[in-house]
Amino acid sequence: MTKPKALVTRRWPAPCEARLREHFDVTLNLDNHPLTTAELQAALRDYDVVMPTVSDRITAEVLTAEPLRCRILGNFGVGFNHIDMAAAKARGISVTNTPDVLTDCTADIAMLLLLMAARRGGEGERLVRAGHWSGWHPTHFLGTKVAGKTLGLIGFGRIGQAMATRAHFGFGMPIIFHTPRPAPAELIEHFSARQLGSLEAVLKEADFVSLHCPGSPENHHLINAERLALMKPGAILINTARGDVVDNQALIAALKARTIRAAGLDVYEGEPDLDPEFLTLDNVALLPHLGSATTETRVAMGMKVIDNVLAFFRGEAPPNQVV
Ligand code: DGY
Repeated sequence: MTKPKALVTRRWPAPCEARLREHFDVTLNLDNHPLTTAELQAALRDYDVVMPTVSDRITAEVLTAEPLRCRILGNFGVGFNHIDMAAAKARGISVTNTPDVLTDCTADIAMLLLLMAARRGGEGERLVRAGHWSGWHPTHFLGTKVAGKTLGLIGFGRIGQAMATRAHFGFGMPIIFHTPRPAPAELIEHFSARQLGSLEAVLKEADFVSLHCPGSPENHHLINAERLALMKPGAILINTARGDVVDNQALIAALKARTIRAAGLDVYEGEPDLDPEFLTLDNVALLPHLGSATTETRVAMGMKVIDNVLAFFRGEAPPNQVV
């Protein structure tokens, strides 16, 4: 059987690239440059499978490519808000993603940001590195205690639950959460959690709010000025979901006015071009979309893409088909 012709849009970990070479007539992006719209369109014209990732914008325009050869987008990432799903469906292109394998590592980064924002980790590191630390004293860099404080989760899927595990069992934090649908009773019982009837109710009660909802048109600017105004004055917002779930301008205004204490961000609207105002604020911890960035997880993600695409070309339903 001839090997499917595959294009991979960015470099993958070495064991994944080795496996790609075994199973596909593969073109790797050896200099790791982000592909342009024209390059993505050419890929859809020239390859049986394209393996994009979360920083590639597979828009409706990209998906107008003619003549279309590509039959499947094997996405390297769990989120797929960078792919126009309706357009992919209309062109008869299947889409797969990589759930599960990044759950723990993404929750670790959410917890890291929570701790950095609460305990002023970024500020402390900047001080030490700048050579400005003049020594210990009782009022130096006072943060806020984490243990025992209430964590509010917006979204209670795999990553939200992994965050709840760390916060509740590791830090003794009571868990409240909001999801559009009722969560299973055993799950609620496991975390001794409370599911509140609205997002607003969670924002009003939580000491920390961590976002774990999908990036989707419905969730665009879910956290806006009005909702930020509901948060407690000492509260901290953590975003490891998608940048556009938060209205950046509203968040910057709240951080500047200190109507909330702090924020911890791993994702940004329009990333990597984050609003330069963030860089001027000390009460925000900033990471460069590191949620899944461990060797173990990135290898597992690549292997999952390959498993999905191989299943597709064997004529089976890919395990993680989203379209
Ligand atoms: C994803 O997979 O959607 C993350 O944002 C990157 O790991």
